[in-house]
Amino acid sequence: MFIAFEGPEGSGKSTQIMLLSGWVRERGLSVLTTREPGGTAIGDRVRAILLDHAASEMSPQAEVLLFSAARAQLVSEVIRPHLEAGGVVLCDRFADSTMAYQGYGHQLPLDKLATITEFATGGLRPDLVAYLDIDVQAGLRRKQQHAQDDAGQWNRMEAKALAFHERVRAGYLAMAAADPARWLVVDAGQRVEDVQGHLRARVAEMLQLAIGDR
Ligand code: TMP
Repeated sequence: MFIAFEGPEGSGKSTQIMLLSGWVRERGLSVLTTREPGGTAIGDRVRAILLDHAASEMSPQAEVLLFSAARAQLVSEVIRPHLEAGGVVLCDRFADSTMAYQGYGHQLPLDKLATITEFATGGLRPDLVAYLDIDVQAGLRRKQQHAQDDAGQWNRMEAKALAFHERVRAGYLAMAAADPARWLVVDAGQRVEDVQGHLRARVAEMLQLAIGDR
């Protein structure tokens, strides 16, 4: 079972993935968590290029190809082998991020992005896209807060204009509305445990797991 987590900046994906992976693991399944861009030695190097402030002159086309290169490596090196061994994969962002950010955000043609993605992934698609929806400004504020807490940096993708992030969110909502069987939309403005409750309910149903504690 392959679950991708998607959302605008600051939607709380990593916290939710950490909680969900522990819960699934306690139920005896082999869980692998990973993230995009990255998740492999090659992908981490590509990530550093993509998120670097100095790369602000990067064209949207180059951006798509770099995200796709990292994705191709992650699928063949990490995701496919784990799925083929019967495991559960929880991935922080996947191909729908390219659709949302480069397609709806940068307004590159969606059909071309779909073709590039198909090539990069060999047609692998998530069984479930868990989309954590959050108001763009609230999400960016949350992320900025964390960046300050971690003495981290405001990365290049986050620093884009507000209108860009609004298009990204609208794109996610359009994709979710077009494929409700595969997308689970959760309001990420709720308490962490409430967001987690929605995710567990859906995953329990898909994996036929008991929802109760242990
Ligand atoms: P994150 O690790 O905080 O989610 O940051 C990754 C950034 O890269 C985020 O701003 C979204 C962006 N991104 C794309 O623009 N396209 C993609 O295909 C992926 C995977 C991420």
